[in-house]
Amino acid sequence: MEPLLELKDLSVKYFTSDGTVEAVNGISLQVDRGETLGLVGETGAGKTTAALSILRLLPDPPGKIVGGDIRFQGESLLEKTEKEMRAIRGGQISMIFQDPMTALNPVIRVGEQIAEVILLHDKISKAEAERRALEMLELVGIPAERGSEYPHQFSGGMKQRVVIAIALACSPALLLADEPTTALDVTIQAQVLELINQLQEKLHTATILITHDLGVVAETCSKVAVMYAGEIMESGSLADLFDRAAHPYTVGLFQSIPSLEEDVDLLRPIPGLMPDPTALPQGCKFHPRCPYADERCRTVQPPVEELSPGHLVKCLRFCGGAEQAQEE
Ligand SMILES: Nc1ncnc2c1ncn2[C@@H]1O[C@H](COP(=O)(O)OP(=O)(O)OP(=O)(O)O)[C@@H](O)[C@H]1O
Ligand SMILES: [Mg+2]
Repeated sequence: MEPLLELKDLSVKYFTSDGTVEAVNGISLQVDRGETLGLVGETGAGKTTAALSILRLLPDPPGKIVGGDIRFQGESLLEKTEKEMRAIRGGQISMIFQDPMTALNPVIRVGEQIAEVILLHDKISKAEAERRALEMLELVGIPAERGSEYPHQFSGGMKQRVVIAIALACSPALLLADEPTTALDVTIQAQVLELINQLQEKLHTATILITHDLGVVAETCSKVAVMYAGEIMESGSLADLFDRAAHPYTVGLFQSIPSLEEDVDLLRPIPGLMPDPTALPQGCKFHPRCPYADERCRTVQPPVEELSPGHLVKCLRFCGGAEQAQEE
């Protein structure tokens, strides 16, 4: 069966007065129906850019999709008209942004905001949409009677629950969750993630979960893709990445898996910084920080190697088979 979502060699650039930012450089990945893919990587790796591209919500200018394709349910999203995209957004694909306040309208009652999204996508009466909105509120653990309140009357965790209710109100086939809990305190974080998990199972929604937090990935995802400087360096099942990490970048990242209680922004086990995306290095983008880099890594772009079914890595050490690297 075809995957629900397929990114094929997707490239995105931001054309700014300070230079061209090569934000996403030829990434390919697949998400099947109902599954959760964790998209991880340091700040600036291109995760949000990739997610915004899927919804065609890149700020343009300066952002442009310059290559590749995005296929959803077998059709290219890049060929859709703006009107068709509006029907897809919030309907079949929805996104949870990092900061709940930017996603909510401060002057509209919470229940009404959920009903609006439902009305936009489903041909039902206003009364019916309002009834379903209150049902959604209850589903995310907020009493229906609070639907008549405004966002400022809600706590941060409750606002994020409302955002989740809006995102899932039309039972989307795909949810893009960009750091959905970063703005929340840790106890609420776990609850909100649990809620997303439960709703996802109930509605059979596939999810791309963008996060810095590998502990969260371990608990919620079945597949993982690791981004670095706009490329996917390694991807595979949770076990492939946690037990059999191959790419030196992934190995570095996964050496210290933070617990949910730790400040995930402190996660920086590998010395050095990501390269300037307006002047990316030749060869492997990770070579300046890689403990194994040799002369070839400075000039040759590593191809994608499949180490085992579904376990892909982009590193010259694994070219021509995994044994070579293990022998060293
Ligand atoms: N509107 C923009 N104009 C110019 N450059 C941008 C714009 N948005 C993002 N970028 C650049 O594109 C690159 C990728 O950014 P992106 O926000 O996708 O990274 P990210 O992986 O989501 O990072 P974070 O973990 O911090 O959210 C970065 O170098 C960033 O500075
Ligand atoms: Mg981001």
